[in-house]
Amino acid sequence: MARLVIVSNRVAIPAEGKASVSAGGLAVAVNEAFSAYEGLWFGWSGEISDNPDAEPKLIDRERVQYAVLDLSPQDYKEYYAGFANRALWPIMHYRVGLGSYSRSDYSGYQRVNRTFARALAKLLEPDDLVWVHDYHLIPLASELRGQGVDNPIGYFHHIPWPGADVFNTLPASGDLLRAIADYDLIGLQTEPDVQNLSRNLIDHMRAIPLGGGSLMVDGRRTKIRSFPIGIDVAGFKEAAEKAGSNKVVRETMAGLRTRKLLIGVDRLDYSKGVPERMEAVDRFFASNPDQRGNVVYIQITPKSRSEVPEYEQLSREVNEKVGDINGMLGEPAWTPIQYVTKAYPRPVLAGLYRAARVGLVTPMRDGMNLVAKEYIVAQSEEDPGVLVLSKFAGAARQMQEALLVNPYDRFEMSEAIREALYMPRDERLARWKPMSERMIREDVDWWARNFMTELESFRILDRSSSTT
Ligand code: G6P
Repeated sequence: MARLVIVSNRVAIPAEGKASVSAGGLAVAVNEAFSAYEGLWFGWSGEISDNPDAEPKLIDRERVQYAVLDLSPQDYKEYYAGFANRALWPIMHYRVGLGSYSRSDYSGYQRVNRTFARALAKLLEPDDLVWVHDYHLIPLASELRGQGVDNPIGYFHHIPWPGADVFNTLPASGDLLRAIADYDLIGLQTEPDVQNLSRNLIDHMRAIPLGGGSLMVDGRRTKIRSFPIGIDVAGFKEAAEKAGSNKVVRETMAGLRTRKLLIGVDRLDYSKGVPERMEAVDRFFASNPDQRGNVVYIQITPKSRSEVPEYEQLSREVNEKVGDINGMLGEPAWTPIQYVTKAYPRPVLAGLYRAARVGLVTPMRDGMNLVAKEYIVAQSEEDPGVLVLSKFAGAARQMQEALLVNPYDRFEMSEAIREALYMPRDERLARWKPMSERMIREDVDWWARNFMTELESFRILDRSSSTT
């Protein structure tokens, strides 16, 4: 059996005796890819050490081997907190003004990619298929090629890819465009992302279109295609159905009594539009005073990337907003916003989604957004809830039946909340059903299979081109 080698910044190593961990979207997706392959998962150990080993630590679990490296404090600061999350992340999410580029961060990013490539090259076998994930590792293929690696290498970008007028403001943009073309296959979430990257390569790197999504860049062929990521529908549905017995879910529902629940679940990140959403909820209560006391909004927002100043600033902003709104509107017997920064396990979230009449998923920009998909999958056919979804989330392309909103427009969001709360069951069902069916068809297995089928074809293509 051919080996699949996955590379990502974060690696979710399961506990001994377990085949996989239940964790966030990327981990679930990667584990799905391993269901058809034996393989290796390579990346950062999650540890920072003063003297990191050059050789990865190897851990064996069932059919997957894990190979992880520590980062030095300088690597962590420059590669992860610096270039990846202070320069690339904001630019990829169209927030040019929030971007902060430094040359030393960029050289740290290049250095870690080189270190990863050197360590990984030694572990690769000639038949391996290599699949790299996300913006931390854009130059990895180019570094691997420099180490003499000739295997098919694919890349999947989990976040948005902006147009050239945004992307090219990044001082390292030319380097990154050159480097990304060293992948055989580049997967993006949506068709507009594909257009943005392809046009940029054609207009600024003199790439030649070859048809069918393939481009010739500097004498190398690369293919760019969209692969919208899905979720583990069967697993999530089962968790939602069983969640009634979960203590947190039971207690939350008991606390609600007859009140209707609005729910938001996001990492604390400015791309998610949490303060803007709170303002919309505030506006909703201002224009629907009869609903005060009847509706509760639970926002679950685990802290994220706290060492990056823009995230620390956001955390303060959200705390202040929750305090202001609850102080102004609340009553001793009613708190409009329940804000929680704890991370809950997926089965608890599944139960809370099912209990919520409205799912609020209103990012300012998002590659896909799996919470929107999970919310739909968690609903029951008897009494489905309503999804209010930002039109700037990649998921909106597959979820046109949701109440689509512009997250920059608090009035429109407040109106959508009202419409969702008053929507009759017939209409809720008519909107939910086609989305639910699409989530089942276009699940994580469909996503991984499509990508791997395409990546496999490069093995055949390479072989045939070397014999002609
Ligand atoms: C997004 C990215 C992932 C990342 C995750 C959590 O979903 O696409 O690559 O792992 O956020 O962020 P963190 O910085 O904690 O890894």
